[in-house]
Order: sequence, then structure tokens, then C-alpha cells
Amino acid sequence: MTALLVLHGPNLNLLGTREPDVYGRLTLDEINARCIALGQELGVEVRCLQSNHEGALIDALHEARTWAAGVVFNPGGYTHTSVALRDAIAAIGLPVIEVHLSNVYAREDFRHKSLISAVCRGKITGLGWRSYTLAIRFLFEMLNE
Ligand code: DQA
Repeated sequence: MTALLVLHGPNLNLLGTREPDVYGRLTLDEINARCIALGQELGVEVRCLQSNHEGALIDALHEARTWAAGVVFNPGGYTHTSVALRDAIAAIGLPVIEVHLSNVYAREDFRHKSLISAVCRGKITGLGWRSYTLAIRFLFEMLNE
């Protein structure tokens, strides 16, 4: 069975209570449940993981090489700062979709720059929790083409 990693970066464990007007009212568990349910509908195994630590996110990307066909990744604030995550994405050779709950282009200037977009297959930003499910649908279709 095709397997996908849904990876969440720092502060996303606080979803539900964290700036709900910006990030929505669903908790991380609720978003993960929707991703897993979509995976069941499509016949894809979806594994979800969150970390507040850059190194743990890098380890998860490396590990994904051994079992996943693609990655849906919300790097949170590391999007705008992390050369190491960019290098990890470039190194693993898996299709990675960068996702954001909020529309980063409608926010502060420092959020307009992503260090990882150039090494990702594509990017979905501003569609709330559906950024994740749309990315899963894209990977499913791409991998089955
Ligand atoms: C975010 C956008 C980032 O700028 C921010 O640092 C986050 C969440 C989003 O999903 O909208 O932590 O990635």
C-alpha cells in the first residue's frame, strides 16, 4: 500500500487554541484524523508526526525514505529560516508538498520568503486544514499516474 508522511513543525501542536482566527479551530489531532480518513478513502496509509525540534523533523524526513512515497510538510516558522530542512528535502528525493494553514502572502513580509519552496514539488497555502487534504489528493493522483 502507498504510504505518505504528514509532517508538522513547531507550534502546530497548539492548534485549536493558537491564534484560531489565523490557523482555524481544529486541533492537530482533528486535522490528522481528517488526513488519515482521506487516506483510508483513497487506499493510502497516512502517518502523521509533529515535532517542535528541527533535528527531529530532519530525522523524520530521512526516515521517510525507507517507507513513504511522498511527504506533506508544514514546517511552521522553520519555513522561513531553515537551510537544514531545505537540504534534507533536497537530499531525500521524495516528492514533498509544502503546506500552510494561513495565507503566508497575506501576512508579514518575513513570511513571504520560504527557504524550502524551491526544493518542494509544490506548495499550498491559505486553505486551512484543507491545505493538507488537497496535498494528499495531489500526491495520490501523481503517484498513480
Ligand atoms: C504556518 C505559517 C508560518 O509562517 C508560521 O510560522 C506557522 C504556521 C501556517 O501553517 O500557516 O507556524 O506554517
